[in-house]
Amino acid sequence: MARLKPTFVCQACGAVTSRWAGKCEACGAWNAIVEEAVAAPLPGGASSTAARALGRGRVVVLEGLSGATDEAPRLVAGLGELDRVTGGGFVHGSALLLGGEPGIGKSTLLLQGSAALARAGHRVVYVSGEEAAAQVRLRAQRLGLADAPVALAAETNVEDILATLKDGPPPRLVIIDSIQTLWTSQVEAAPGTVTQVRAAAQAMIRYAKTTGACVILVGHVTKDGQIAGPRVVEHMVDAVLSFEGDSGRDFRILRAQKNRFGPTDEIGVFAMTGDGLEQVTNPSALFLGDREPDAPGAAVLAGLEGSRPILVEIQALVVPSTLGTPRRAVVGWDNARLAMVLAVLEARCGVRLGGHDVHLAVAGGLRIQEPAADLAVAAALVSSLTGAALPVDAVFFGEIGLTGAVRPVSHPGPRLREAARLGFKRGVLPAAAADAAQGTDVSIVAIPTLDVLVARLAARADAAHASRQGA
Ligand code: TYD
Ligand code: MG
Repeated sequence: MARLKPTFVCQACGAVTSRWAGKCEACGAWNAIVEEAVAAPLPGGASSTAARALGRGRVVVLEGLSGATDEAPRLVAGLGELDRVTGGGFVHGSALLLGGEPGIGKSTLLLQGSAALARAGHRVVYVSGEEAAAQVRLRAQRLGLADAPVALAAETNVEDILATLKDGPPPRLVIIDSIQTLWTSQVEAAPGTVTQVRAAAQAMIRYAKTTGACVILVGHVTKDGQIAGPRVVEHMVDAVLSFEGDSGRDFRILRAQKNRFGPTDEIGVFAMTGDGLEQVTNPSALFLGDREPDAPGAAVLAGLEGSRPILVEIQALVVPSTLGTPRRAVVGWDNARLAMVLAVLEARCGVRLGGHDVHLAVAGGLRIQEPAADLAVAAALVSSLTGAALPVDAVFFGEIGLTGAVRPVSHPGPRLREAARLGFKRGVLPAAAADAAQGTDVSIVAIPTLDVLVARLAARADAAHASRQGA
């Protein structure tokens, strides 16, 4: 047994130092360093430890790249929105981390997924470290899942869990809710500390790799959205999914942050109801649900999340500022991207916003990452500034360059087809994408440079103003 020596571990980033310090040198976090006794190195299975103790390694078989290449077999949950995000089901022998804020619905999602798989005849073991078995059972009853043959345990000790899994028929899917509650007697540190979380995750991942079961680890996230515990767990697993949404609203978005076996830009949309999570197969209708057609400052973006087009409203509010430095507040989009659009509006189109506060929000709480939102953002900003609403039947997309050019974005066809499906009649988009509307009844307004859009919106505002004066 290696000698136990006191080690100091940063609970934010996992960096190890030999002395305590108030600030972590590696990540800059304050008061995050905690003393943990670490027995180095972690044992890796009985035979290999024995071999290593003797100073000898075990010979491993080297393989070529051109071996049998079966497509990774997958476990399809039958919940379409979940399977879409995993890339078509859980891969056998893989480990997956599901992160999310407390109360967002991680346990509910996994309980529903487990029940669906168990009903399909797969052996599923659900290990709850947070709730007692009775609580989980009660929830299952409320969700109408009590008849699903899920094997349930309330346990937090890794050795006990592994012994239970090895006893009885081998499971196809194991759920650990949550990784922060697990502890292994192999390391001497409190549950929830970096050392424990890392060692427990390592043991569960090794179980997945050696038995071919799929292991899902639930991880809590901290206030700033990081999965609590060491980042190394994120590196150790094959896929990291995050479950998001604000608790004030009903719908939840499942997003892949990392996936060794599938795409990372797909999202799954769910709504939390009294009967658990419901899949939302038509998210555009949901995100456009409470639109006010005549309100200035709102533009509909024909966006794309992964392979799926999603229409969502971008809302801007531009008001004269009383502050020395005007406010720039963004919800659901990128601050730096907004600054760029404002700079281009100012420098290339003569729209002065330096004396105005700007608030920008993506309606419904969706978080948008693609630059295709630029044109919709610019339209919403100008519309709010002039006070004239945008045409109610128009969608916008296009990337804005620093020169003011409106550049094409990927997949204009699917974006416009989704718009047509929801009754939109006009597409305001980059000139280069003008022929994408073929086969739909959407008419195209091609915008080569941003000043063209600004001129059109200004003319529209003047016309609206004149008609109000005339009336
Ligand atoms: P839960 O799955 O326990 O969240 P997590 O595991 O991420 O902490 O979800 C808890 C929340 O979901 C709780 O606030 C109540 C709500 N909820 C419903 O609205 N309907 C339901 O059918 C269930 C099971 C939960
Ligand atoms: Mg939970």
